[in-house]
Amino acid sequence: MHDDIERIVFTEEELKAKVKALGERISADYRDAKETVFCVGILKGAVVFYTDLVRSISIPVQFDFMIASSYGNATSTSGSVKLLKDLDYDIEGKHVIIVEDIIDSGTTMHYLLRILKERKPKSIKLCALLSKPSRRAVDVDIDYLGAEVPDEFLVGYGLDYAEVYRNLPYIGVLKPDIYRS
Ligand code: IMP
Ligand code: MG
Repeated sequence: MHDDIERIVFTEEELKAKVKALGERISADYRDAKETVFCVGILKGAVVFYTDLVRSISIPVQFDFMIASSYGNATSTSGSVKLLKDLDYDIEGKHVIIVEDIIDSGTTMHYLLRILKERKPKSIKLCALLSKPSRRAVDVDIDYLGAEVPDEFLVGYGLDYAEVYRNLPYIGVLKPDIYRS
């Protein structure tokens, strides 16, 4: 697995520091919130980030998850998004924080934000570990961002290529011959 990585972009220690900083910002911003804070993780890519993030948040949060799939080839997404798993709970009047691994074209998040806003949450914010601004096709406001990254295919810390590499503890660039072969 490690041999397929061209270069490490964020080490385990760097990720830990980024996640801790995001958790502290979220904790401070929602410290006085009276309504429940719902952390909505987008499966499966965000799961590793999510489990670390929630443990760096010091206020009570409730868990919920969604699965969205965007059609396309293995390393880029196309325009249409399908909801494979919806939330278990009603978010009306609740504070929602969507937790996503990476915003690429923005298509998936644009769709999810649109359908969740229709359910009248008290507030809705987006926390993304990574963003590739050069790839954006639709505008997405990211309230809490770990880091911007260039247009390279990344794996690890939840990010996959064909469902592999999610359990790498760091984030790295996948060797292009892996997905070209
Ligand atoms: P978008 O709809 O184009 O913004 O796609 C977002 C989704 O594509 C993310 O949630 C990831 O699952 C996936 N994705 C985008 N870039 C990468 C990458 O570099 N590595 C792995 N998955 C990625
Ligand atoms: Mg994803």
